Amino acid sequence: MKSISIIHGDITQADVDAIVNAANPKMLGGGGVDGAIHRAAGPELLRACFAIEAVNGVRCPYGDARITIAGNLKAKYVIHAVGPIYKKFVDPRAVLISAYEKALSLALENDCQSVALPAISCGAYGYPPAEAAQIAMSVCQQPKYGALEIRFYLFDEEMVAIWQQEQASGVVVE
Ligand code: APR
Repeated sequence: MKSISIIHGDITQADVDAIVNAANPKMLGGGGVDGAIHRAAGPELLRACFAIEAVNGVRCPYGDARITIAGNLKAKYVIHAVGPIYKKFVDPRAVLISAYEKALSLALENDCQSVALPAISCGAYGYPPAEAAQIAMSVCQQPKYGALEIRFYLFDEEMVAIWQQEQASGVVVE
């Protein structure tokens, strides 16, 4: 099992094969992580997103992920994962699990050895962080992702503490 590390920092600085973005279905940028990644990656990233076919304005459904080049970022790829808007879904847990799983599967399919993950849906999308941390950790600890070195990049101390507490509890929720 490769490592799962928790880092207090800006995910755009991650020196990994793939940086996961907390995107929205349009995949044309936004605030939070999305804004930071697009600012750091440069306009080439937006062009790559724009090139993905949109069906009724949707390039990536909730709970799904898409992979693009990474522009000026150190990473080779950006994986755009769309988590649930917490209050919009009857079962936001299933959608968040799916978003992490699709993102990690894309990393494996593209021969990535290391991947940086943000706290998907824990900002504008309003997911309660402690519940999200439990989901994120239990997905990442699944043996099928054992070949990946996973780094969680959390933006503030409170989130770091929540993720560290979850990692220490080591409870893998099926
Ligand atoms: N590095 C790491 N984490 C960050 C960074 C950064 N540079 N900037 C913000 N974060 C953290 C936030 O503090 C939060 O804990 O990422 C987490 C996810 O928050 P959001 O970026 O708001 O993502 P999300 O809740 O999934 O909402 C997605 O917001 O920015 C828009 O276009 C995006 O519509 C989409 C929605």
